[in-house]
Amino acid sequence: MLTLEAQEHPTLEGENLVIFSGNSNPALARAIACYLEIPLGNALVKNFSNGETRVQIEENVRGAEVFVVQPTCGNVNDSLMELLILCDALSRSSAKSITVVVPYYGYSRQEKKTTGREPITAKLVANLITVAGASRVITVDLHAAAIQGFFDIPVDNLVAMPIVVSYFKHKGIPKEDLVVISPDAGGASRARMFAERLGAGLAIIFKRRPRPEAVELMDFVGEIEGKTCLIVDDIISTGGTLLTGVEMLMSKGAARVFAATTHGLLAGSAIEAIEKSPIEEVIVTDTVPISQEAQRGKITVLSVAPLLGEAIRRNYFHMSVSKLFS
Ligand code: R5P
Repeated sequence: MLTLEAQEHPTLEGENLVIFSGNSNPALARAIACYLEIPLGNALVKNFSNGETRVQIEENVRGAEVFVVQPTCGNVNDSLMELLILCDALSRSSAKSITVVVPYYGYSRQEKKTTGREPITAKLVANLITVAGASRVITVDLHAAAIQGFFDIPVDNLVAMPIVVSYFKHKGIPKEDLVVISPDAGGASRARMFAERLGAGLAIIFKRRPRPEAVELMDFVGEIEGKTCLIVDDIISTGGTLLTGVEMLMSKGAARVFAATTHGLLAGSAIEAIEKSPIEEVIVTDTVPISQEAQRGKITVLSVAPLLGEAIRRNYFHMSVSKLFS
């Protein structure tokens, strides 16, 4: 008989595991359940007429290992409350363990004080999730890896890079023509890992934020004239960082510009601005929902459902997840 480690994909049929979803990315939750070949658990998650979140777990979870899929995006505070209330309901329903699967961790950019009299909201959210009853967290590309330490429960911070690299390699762009760009100093190590995997060159833009959500480019290190540039970042929110970077690269003689980002928050008029810019393609993942309208243009969506599904399966069977990082 094969050991669990030897069986790459042990089946979950008949196992005591249930996946629930809130309302922030039900399509991703369904894709994960489909990948694992199990149905989603039944729970009612809606609002009372006064705006309060109402949750009812509609099946027995006593002794079950439950996974709650809920990126804290869109209406971030509502998504977060749904997640917390789902955890509370599951904990009071005697689930054996509650793993929160938060593919995008909202408030992650508020992870330190930069001036005086500011909150560290990423830590506050970690406290709330833990107090609500979560026993483990699965997430993807945290804005700052140190946020793992904000939790006193285990955190699997998965990386979307292998999915993006494998897609990008299929474009067949010669390595010597390709340069990976970090749009700020903080993203340099992520960009270096992409460059290593693609066998490409590396360049770094130095960015300053004179005030929240404003971008000012300071400096640039690298050689990009006549090259194809791939800007890599964890988040596109307003698109300010990306599009100011694209302008700089074009002005320095880049031949083509692509971008790859894990979390396409695409706030405000980001989609329109991307469509109008000279960028050829923006690759994002489905950690947060991307509208069909956005996908008709330059935005390509790659799914993290198999990655998260595998992480769930491996956690359930107590198998190593380190394989998912390679
Ligand atoms: C910043 O450190 C992040 O890595 C992203 O560059 C930033 O959050 C993107 O935000 P925006 O699209 O609003 O410039």
